[in-house]
Amino acid sequence: MGTTNHIFDRMKQREEELLSHINREELPQHIAIIMDGNGRWAERRGLRRVDGHRAGIKAVREVVEAAARLGVKILTLYAFSVENWKRPPDEVSTLMSLLRKYIKKETPTLLNNNIKLSVLGRMEGLPQVVQSDLRRALEATHHCTGLLFNIALNYGGRTELIDAFRKIWQQLENTKGTAPPIDEELIANNLYTAGQPDPDLLIRTSGEMRLSNFLLWQIAYSELWVTETLWPDFRCKELYEAIISYQKRERRFGGV
Ligand code: IPE
Ligand code: IPE
Ligand code: MG
Repeated sequence: MGTTNHIFDRMKQREEELLSHINREELPQHIAIIMDGNGRWAERRGLRRVDGHRAGIKAVREVVEAAARLGVKILTLYAFSVENWKRPPDEVSTLMSLLRKYIKKETPTLLNNNIKLSVLGRMEGLPQVVQSDLRRALEATHHCTGLLFNIALNYGGRTELIDAFRKIWQQLENTKGTAPPIDEELIANNLYTAGQPDPDLLIRTSGEMRLSNFLLWQIAYSELWVTETLWPDFRCKELYEAIISYQKRERRFGGV
């Protein structure tokens, strides 16, 4: 017991130290995370993949609260892609039921922390029960003015662009053929993230160096940070490390 407390104290100390290196004036406004490695986390422990997803919830809780505490404006978590339907049905249904549990259990915490929930993706393609739980949480947190927590569900970057082009097409029809100027603003305003600043920082866990169809338009100039840490092991410490690394970068946006 004494040893456990000691390890815990050391972890807290390390977190505090990292926190002291973060410049609060230059926080990334928008952080996006590809939460990956739940399956590998479980396999390494001789557990089932779904146990990895279950363990990943703790990381979600911790990161959402840490981002809110820090004063980050927007946090976007990639929770389920349009491609993830390819997984075995029992894994998909466990993911859906974990999502429902998380939403029900965490809504009061989101409210207490003034966190507004938002869904990015084709919500209509999710099971009806999931949709109604989500709708309830969206309504409950609608008035919150703190962290905006986007959860990407049934999300695909290309699907998002298709949906944006369809919306633009509709607007074109409504304006009886007078073409709206096609520019960056028009496209950005028709994405799921309409009105939100692009991610400044994109984090991916479990070491994979790919985007997996995430926020293809919005991450044009995001700073990337990849960690070998598997998602269920991701904690405040890793979030702080990513922010510190981000704050050391020189962002150029094509200039000099
Ligand atoms: C991320 O972990 C969770 C989801 C994609 C829903 P994975 O399930 O992809 O874990 P790995 O990549 O197989 O380890
Ligand atoms: C990306 O992870 C999707 C989410 C984190 C929800 P995947 O595990 O599905 O990505 P790939 O298949 O390794 O590219
Ligand atoms: Mg994966």
